[in-house]
Amino acid sequence: MDITSSADIQSELTEQELLLGLDADQLPRHVAIIMDGNGRWASGRGLPRIAGHREGLAALREVINVFDELHIPMLTIYAFSHENWNRPKAEITLLMSLLDQFLQKERQTFQDRKMRFLPIGRLHLLPDAVQALVHEVANETAHYTDRILTVALSYGGRSEILDAVNDLLDDSRTGKISGPITESQFEHYLTTADLPDPDLLIRTSGEARISNFLLWQIAYTELYFTKVLWPDFRRREVLIALLDYQKRERRFGRVTQAVSPQSTL
Ligand code: FPP
Repeated sequence: MDITSSADIQSELTEQELLLGLDADQLPRHVAIIMDGNGRWASGRGLPRIAGHREGLAALREVINVFDELHIPMLTIYAFSHENWNRPKAEITLLMSLLDQFLQKERQTFQDRKMRFLPIGRLHLLPDAVQALVHEVANETAHYTDRILTVALSYGGRSEILDAVNDLLDDSRTGKISGPITESQFEHYLTTADLPDPDLLIRTSGEARISNFLLWQIAYTELYFTKVLWPDFRRREVLIALLDYQKRERRFGRVTQAVSPQSTL
């Protein structure tokens, strides 16, 4: 499968044409993004990896602005995975300092845009100062419900599910809940309990993997893989991904209208 076939066709169009092609009523409500390729972007330019992460942060700001422009209310980004703890200490320190800078700088923007900052993951593993800031910004924006920026930090999908199971077992022992439990009861134990499942998951840099991101939540999510490296994923690339999404037919395991349950199979 050529993962950029649709994007290739759309890349002929101008940004304005791409925008005009979008149906404002059919935009996703919740988009999740695996921001991959910062290191390759930097090494391709003979720069240190952290230069790629810095440019990646600039791309993230642009994507947040485009979502704001298009009124897409929920964005969930994979900023730091469990596995990322295995990177060189200097790179981890720089990533944590970028997170710190991002939160310091965007703190006011979250208020201006009435946007909730929702961190998910094993936050207790973050360095103390960053952890404190993450909790502060989360607490001061917790009352906003219409727009949500979820940031996965020290996150892994399997550990999220395990943490949920363990919390559920605790509640079962104290009699707060008893089985058999339903999917929606289980979802209350996930860190994304307040969010609808993502409609669209984007991964940049040509890798077609999920890498332990939102394993439960993406059961019916449309997947979009592009070769574009994350620092180059700007407004135009967002529009191309959204147009591609709008061409999909989301059936959630059902048949299409044309082949309705009444028709003979
Ligand atoms: C993957 O690229 C990217 C990351 C591990 C970090 C993502 C971070 C940012 C986009 C910037 C900071 C964001 C916040 C919220 C502070 P990679 O390094 O794995 O790239 P490679 O696969 O080309 O090596």
